[in-house]
Amino acid sequence: MNNDISIKIGNVKLKSPLIIGANDSILNFNTFEKIAKNTKLLGAFVTKSITFQPRMGNKDPIIAQLENNILVSSGIRNPGFQQMLEEIKKYNKSYSSPLLIASIAINPDTKCSQPEKELAEMALELYNNGTNVVELNLSCPNLNSSQIVADKSGEVLKIISYIKNEFAKKNIKNNVLIAKLAGNDMALLNSSKQAQEAEIDAITILPVLYATGFYTGLIKQLQSLPIGEPLLGNVQGTIYGGGLGPITRQLVINLKKNISVPIIASGGCLGGMNSSILEKTDGFMQTMLTGAIATEIVTPFYPFTQEKILEIDYIINNYLYILSKNKEYNVKLQNLSSI
Ligand SMILES: Cc1cc2nc3c(=O)[nH]c(=O)nc-3n(C[C@H](O)[C@H](O)[C@H](O)COP(=O)(O)O)c2cc1C
Repeated sequence: MNNDISIKIGNVKLKSPLIIGANDSILNFNTFEKIAKNTKLLGAFVTKSITFQPRMGNKDPIIAQLENNILVSSGIRNPGFQQMLEEIKKYNKSYSSPLLIASIAINPDTKCSQPEKELAEMALELYNNGTNVVELNLSCPNLNSSQIVADKSGEVLKIISYIKNEFAKKNIKNNVLIAKLAGNDMALLNSSKQAQEAEIDAITILPVLYATGFYTGLIKQLQSLPIGEPLLGNVQGTIYGGGLGPITRQLVINLKKNISVPIIASGGCLGGMNSSILEKTDGFMQTMLTGAIATEIVTPFYPFTQEKILEIDYIINNYLYILSKNKEYNVKLQNLSSI
């Protein structure tokens, strides 16, 4: 029975198929280090999406807790590329595991006529500073001023091809690009076909469900609010966590009928904020049965305190234990990997 759970994305090896997705906690060296010190089995973590210039993003609050879910509308709030690069450099000097994946995004306010140039510049600079796996956030759903890039036909192909071409011009062959694509079935199919045509190494897919909520005074929120006000400063956000897993898994299965590019599943895959360890392990196991190569998770571990991070190895160890004991599950997985 083969219990090696390491995976490869492009030419890069990850210890396990569990990845912490981009979120507002993953913004500086202190958090990167907290993750590295408290998990040995995590495959990778993704930084908050970075834009070339700093962004204030949307009005506060940008995050709210709602039952087993998180509502988010950050509008890519981030300190900008130069500051994040310093934090990333510090991490790469001190740690090689888990792998740090940098998430980069187009600033919708940019005056740059070719925004893919900004992405290529950031990707190259990251590569020169020890980060050769980059996730392109091509369809942030919480930017009021721009469309979801993945919806525009041809944009995904154009952006990825441009960046790959810039690397090729410098004769760099070992960089790894992941495209994070968000949307419904059709948007994902359209954009993932383009990503495949551009020879992307993997795609991360995320369902988009717009959502809102109101403060009633009964349940404590991360920020104090007047009663009756929307939970998010932007009123509308997207919802992640509990309940989204089955939708994400269905999207993976639909996509796999049409594309062969490796898929990282994101959206409720380990459940929500209050899911038990058993439910998280079950969610992880279920997601791997879709044929996804990995899963990117946030909500069950948000806000990535030491206590939350420590759960990660526990879940991966549970998974390893089940792989060693549950022959039927193991055989199903082996069959998937041979397709
Ligand atoms: C607070 C928060 C901030 C996020 N910020 C980003 C981001 O900057 N870039 C991105 O690609 N995804 C972002 N996401 C999406 C997550 O990376 C992930 O795809 C999503 O939360 C689904 O997984 P989950 O249900 O396990 O939380 C964010 C999610 C949360 C909860």
